[in-house]
Amino acid sequence: MTKNLVFLHGFPFNRTSWSAEIGHFSDHRVLAPDLRGHGGGPEGPAPWFIHHYVEDLKKFLDEKSADRAILCGLSMGGYVALHFAEKYPERVEALVLANTQAGPDSNEAKDKRYQTVEKLHQDGLQAMAADMAKGMLAESTLRENPEVLGRVVAMIQGNKAENAAKVVGALAARRDATPFLKSLRCPTLVIAGDQDKVISPEAGRAMADAIPGAEFALLSGAGHLSNLEQPAAFQKRVREFLRKL
Ligand code: MLT
Repeated sequence: MTKNLVFLHGFPFNRTSWSAEIGHFSDHRVLAPDLRGHGGGPEGPAPWFIHHYVEDLKKFLDEKSADRAILCGLSMGGYVALHFAEKYPERVEALVLANTQAGPDSNEAKDKRYQTVEKLHQDGLQAMAADMAKGMLAESTLRENPEVLGRVVAMIQGNKAENAAKVVGALAARRDATPFLKSLRCPTLVIAGDQDKVISPEAGRAMADAIPGAEFALLSGAGHLSNLEQPAAFQKRVREFLRKL
């Protein structure tokens, strides 16, 4: 039977960040929703929590009659995938956790979130997009593949500042998923970028070490957006993992 493969994007992007994977994995039933506050995703009154994203995903899977799915989440999408697997383990066949982490924000990270929210209200997302995007991409990507920067900036600018501020609140308030890792029972692949300045490869490796039987892949020349920066290596690694399921 064709397996459901669900891609969950990071903040502040949209489903099109998975365009290459949507084409590449067409032997699966590929689903890639816009998450709350991004693209055409759900909205609603703030505050937002990762719980909302978990319930949005449950509703989405129910609507698509996808009883079980392989979840592949990058960064914020990884937080959602991990929290979903904790709440609804029976719905998850396997996990790919890319450029993400299980731990909560440090106090310093929470302070930075607050500054980001202030900046979003003052300057707006249009003005912030280029710096945000540059902070996420590897130096080598900026040098050798400048078109990736243009794509990322356009995705960021397609979102609304007031929604981005609500998402930042949800990211800051997320729970610590670390205690849950040892009880995770589904096959899991953790992917990290060796030049990720947002979530360190060490955080990815620590998460993989804590999940029974998890595989770890470190992609070279990848920053925080490893599927956009190293699409061939990302797809190859995910393909190898899916083959074993
Ligand atoms: C993301 O890419 O989704 C964000 O960088 C996640 C975060 O800021 O924690």
